[in-house]
Amino acid sequence: MRDFNEITATEGVLKSFDSIENKRVKVLMGSIVKHLHEVVKETEPTFEEWLKAIEFLTRTGQKCDERRQEFILFSDVLGISMLIDTINNRKNNNETESTVLGPFHAPAPDIRFGDNIAHHVKGEKCLVKGKVSDINGKVIPDAIVDVWQSGPDGLYDVQKENNVVDLRGKMKTNNNGEYFFKTVKPQFYPVPTDGPVGEILNLMGRHPFRPAHIHFMIKAEGYVDLTTHVFIDGDPYLDSDTVFAVKESLIRKLNDAIDLDDNTQCKELTFDIILEKKI
Ligand SMILES: [Fe+2]
Repeated sequence: MRDFNEITATEGVLKSFDSIENKRVKVLMGSIVKHLHEVVKETEPTFEEWLKAIEFLTRTGQKCDERRQEFILFSDVLGISMLIDTINNRKNNNETESTVLGPFHAPAPDIRFGDNIAHHVKGEKCLVKGKVSDINGKVIPDAIVDVWQSGPDGLYDVQKENNVVDLRGKMKTNNNGEYFFKTVKPQFYPVPTDGPVGEILNLMGRHPFRPAHIHFMIKAEGYVDLTTHVFIDGDPYLDSDTVFAVKESLIRKLNDAIDLDDNTQCKELTFDIILEKKI
């Protein structure tokens, strides 16, 4: 290319991709460059602005380690993680909708029907139950239900320095396809704001909060794996989840209930799950 100018720029760079053998890489690189060039032509950044963007991305990378993934968080707050999740989990029937995995999934201890997963936190007791079935209502026994949530302080166990596993558990559905565990009422919490993504949220005038939820990952033989959350009705952040993960179909009411094991008052949440058959 010997005639680089604003008109020829994009075509010139795209032509340099002719030698890319991997078809998918060629499509992705072509699309990324085409759109990035459009952004630059539309907004005409100054050198200072361009350097600021480079410096932001550099600091985002430097903030990442085994426990912290600032790039995923950046993708989350721009709605990109949810868009990718939604495209890759298009609903065909009445199956339960998916939502983002999030950064806090970790191996969970096996628990039995009715066990408590909240050992090292204080909060309002909450019974969580439901049944796993297929799209025709046929119950699915032996489905693996993996759950995790933050505590009343808004933190997941892996965010604490003490290495104590808490507020997570993995169980199998019984012969009626049912699961049941005890926990504490989930609470809304902020995503980490002590890094570059926190600065961006500030710059955009956005809050960092996610509405109260419990994460679920369900696997059953012959069915498509499902990663989702159940959200609590009435939470103040349902309409402005900073990672855009809320879907109306995943919101449930917390009802008053009695824990029959010790006759204490508590909350109860029912979340039935419908899985799609693998083709
Ligand atoms: Fe979460």
